Amino acid sequence: MKLLLLPGDGIGPEVIAEARAVLEALALPGLEVAEAPFGGAAIDSDGVPLPEATKAAALSADAVLMGAVGGPQWASQPYDLRPEAGLLALRHAMGVFANLRPARLFPPLADASTLKPEVVEGLDILFVRELVGGVYFGEPRGIERLPSGERVGLNTQRYAEHEIVRVADVAFALARARGGHVTSVDKANVMESGLLWREVVTARQKERHPDVPLSHMLADSCAMELVRNPRRFDVILTDNLFGDLLSDLAAMLTGSLGMLPSAALGAPGAPGLYEPIHGSAPDIAGKGIANPCAAILSLAMALRHSLRRPDAADRVEAAVASALAGGARTRDLGGTLSTREMGTAIVAALAS
Ligand code: IPM
Ligand code: MG
Repeated sequence: MKLLLLPGDGIGPEVIAEARAVLEALALPGLEVAEAPFGGAAIDSDGVPLPEATKAAALSADAVLMGAVGGPQWASQPYDLRPEAGLLALRHAMGVFANLRPARLFPPLADASTLKPEVVEGLDILFVRELVGGVYFGEPRGIERLPSGERVGLNTQRYAEHEIVRVADVAFALARARGGHVTSVDKANVMESGLLWREVVTARQKERHPDVPLSHMLADSCAMELVRNPRRFDVILTDNLFGDLLSDLAAMLTGSLGMLPSAALGAPGAPGLYEPIHGSAPDIAGKGIANPCAAILSLAMALRHSLRRPDAADRVEAAVASALAGGARTRDLGGTLSTREMGTAIVAALAS
């Protein structure tokens, strides 16, 4: 099995270093680990955010674990040469259409949330975000000049039926496995793409997943309900843009953006792309204070979904839980540990 690490930018290299320490402690036989330049780091070394060699290495790996991309130093790059464009191109090239973003509250962190503990206790939501379509990729796009001289920024929200069906199937299968239900989120009241989304998801449930309860919710309402009564949700199925927004919101329910891992999956057997959902956090980059939990939990997801080591995934997740239960906290969680110290606490928990 091959795992490719893409540390990327900002706090990416800092949190991936701790994921690597966990990997070393696990010492899994037959797992090859390689690293490649990506994002702003690759712009600096190779002139582009996704060098061909990095793309080829990703496509021939079993799993790819990314840190983060982006930062102010590349913000003036042309749009398609920005670090973020490299990430979108990688997701697209890997065909990872289903982005699993679990928002689970670790019990010792109930008081780290900005919401009351009784609102978030027991929280266990799984977002299934469509990742390679919608307004992130729709054509036409660009900034155009009108005959009047005024400029217009343009993006296209677009979903074909097959793109909705395949991600809906993933959401229903996951909900079935957890004994849960699916809430499908759209803006069917104002967008045709949302109307089609709702129709296709409804039809697919009737045809293939009648045993999994389904309800629909408008995206604005979902944002409100996530703060008012988040425990009513189980699996939330949604498009690329709403999934981006709502998963950041849900992350904060669990105490910190630094806690949430993700897995992006494509066709069965194809390599998966794993990333903490937090960004490159340029404001704290290089200070050694970032929370490595999301990166380490993303590694656990890679072990489970792509590297066929669910046993190791369980061990890593248990080690994170036990380090937190033992009081280990980075600053975002109200503690004082550095990135390295938090990683070390998790490695120590792994050994005990
Ligand atoms: C995420 C990020 C990315 C996204 C950015 C970095 C392109 O916010 O993974 O949630 O918008 O998908
Ligand atoms: Mg995001």
